[in-house]
Amino acid sequence: MNIKPLTSALGAEITDIDLAVPMAEDDWATLYKAWLDHLVLVFPDQHLNPEQQIAFARRFGPLDDHHEDPTYRLPGYPEIYQIGNFIHNGEMAKTKDTGRKWHSDHSYTTRPTLISMLYCKKIPPVGGSTMFSSTYMAYDTLSEKMKSMLEGLEVVHDFRNFLSPSFFWKPKVKDFSSIKERFPPVVHPLVRTHPETGKKVLYMSEGNMSSIVDLTDDESRCLLDFLFMHAKRPEFTYRHFYKVNDLVFWDNRCVQHYATADYSHDANNPRHMFRLTVLGQRSGRLLEDLRIVEPVQTAAS
Ligand SMILES: [Fe+2]
Repeated sequence: MNIKPLTSALGAEITDIDLAVPMAEDDWATLYKAWLDHLVLVFPDQHLNPEQQIAFARRFGPLDDHHEDPTYRLPGYPEIYQIGNFIHNGEMAKTKDTGRKWHSDHSYTTRPTLISMLYCKKIPPVGGSTMFSSTYMAYDTLSEKMKSMLEGLEVVHDFRNFLSPSFFWKPKVKDFSSIKERFPPVVHPLVRTHPETGKKVLYMSEGNMSSIVDLTDDESRCLLDFLFMHAKRPEFTYRHFYKVNDLVFWDNRCVQHYATADYSHDANNPRHMFRLTVLGQRSGRLLEDLRIVEPVQTAAS
């Protein structure tokens, strides 16, 4: 197999390998090391049926069956979840705006995703890209004083934060309290040690990160704003423009990503991805020691 780095921060293109056939152990070891070294791997021109895609992903660990949202599972293959602006049962898929803020997948849960894998089935003539940033590099480039300040801090990850309007995406959420019930806020350490590489890394998921535990609101806002700006510096990123049959996957423990709204949402030229999700280890904790107070109208307000 041929491994070509795509930027100095992250990303590598792997060619001369057919993911449809079972892989010998030495090839698997090379591929696995490339994944740990480059964080995002791109395999162009792969021809995989659903069984082959699932078999490849399963070598990394157990797969999500997407039971939380069965609507867009590929019929007969619950491990494959369809994302994009394609027509599904006569209407536009509700996954058309998935991932429109920087994030690490499922950081708002206590079992964040290990690997997210996208297999490109259709792509519009222009755009449909994904941006990735290395949060190893975000950590490494901080000053030593800042690193020691951040050590031990914990961050609240709240899915309601993700569902607030952003520049390109205006989700219409009617009931935030039911979102909170389904996905109660969780807490993760800000600085972690990657369990396989042993390197320190910022655990960044901008869209979900709502506050830093035990800081004042002002301190928390100020520090989060700095981290959000810092972690997506262009030098830390790679932006992938897909071709049909690209298979792309990444390590959510050290990568943030962003699904760019850089294409026309024309249903005749859809972006259509088959997504697989390799489950991660349990980590973090529920935010049960902080009381969340919902705004209510009172006589005094
Ligand atoms: Fe995502």
